[in-house]
Amino acid sequence: MKSGKTIRSFSTKDGRKVVLRTPKWEDLDDLLDLINSLAEERVVMTRKVSLEEEREWLSKALSSLGESEAFHLVAEVGDKLVATSEIDRGQSVYERHVGGIGIAIRDGFRDIGIGTEMMKILIEQARIMGLKVLTLSAFANNKSAIHIYEKVGFKQTGRIPQKFFKDGKYTDEIIMIMLLE
Ligand SMILES: CC(C)(COP(=O)(O)OP(=O)(O)OC[C@H]1O[C@@H](n2cnc3c(N)ncnc32)[C@H](O)[C@@H]1OP(=O)(O)O)[C@@H](O)C(=O)NCCC(=O)NCCS
Repeated sequence: MKSGKTIRSFSTKDGRKVVLRTPKWEDLDDLLDLINSLAEERVVMTRKVSLEEEREWLSKALSSLGESEAFHLVAEVGDKLVATSEIDRGQSVYERHVGGIGIAIRDGFRDIGIGTEMMKILIEQARIMGLKVLTLSAFANNKSAIHIYEKVGFKQTGRIPQKFFKDGKYTDEIIMIMLLE
């Protein structure tokens, strides 16, 4: 898959035009800003990353796109990068058929349908990559995440009690999977 390739465009529930595409080199500063906004919120990321770290991550992400080792999808609204997501193929010889999914939407752009559309594309792409099992995990109190994963076909298959300790309290981890026929 080429970098910067538009995969789908759509309008959100509130009329904003969204472009879903693979990332490209020119996204570096925007991705850094997005990742660090998530770190500030303390969702997905727990610490801010440097430009150097993000450059290294993007370099790997772009080369893995070409090798079908991973798939990366970003969302653009106007000229702003507002979401990032990925599938990573299992590295062990026994897990090459398994893909792990991650997704995060910037605050201010949630609950308008972007996450759901991105998940649909990740699943389509997982099939193209020949993956058989998709996995992801969520904080048990992340209701909107669990809702969209179930909406696109994931099933809850496990719960690790008190897996996370955040803001002075324990939260369970929910394990979800999707089998691709
Ligand atoms: C979780 C996340 C990816 C969802 O993406 P999104 O773009 O906000 O999702 P959508 O707008 O497509 O859908 C949100 C859905 O959650 C529902 N929702 C919102 N709050 C909810 C709640 N408290 N309980 C149940 N459902 C809820 C909405 O009604 C909507 O469902 P609907 O379209 O069927 O009505 C996004 O909120 C996010 O990035 N959050 C921060 C990072 C994160 O949590 N990443 C996931 C880690 S597992």
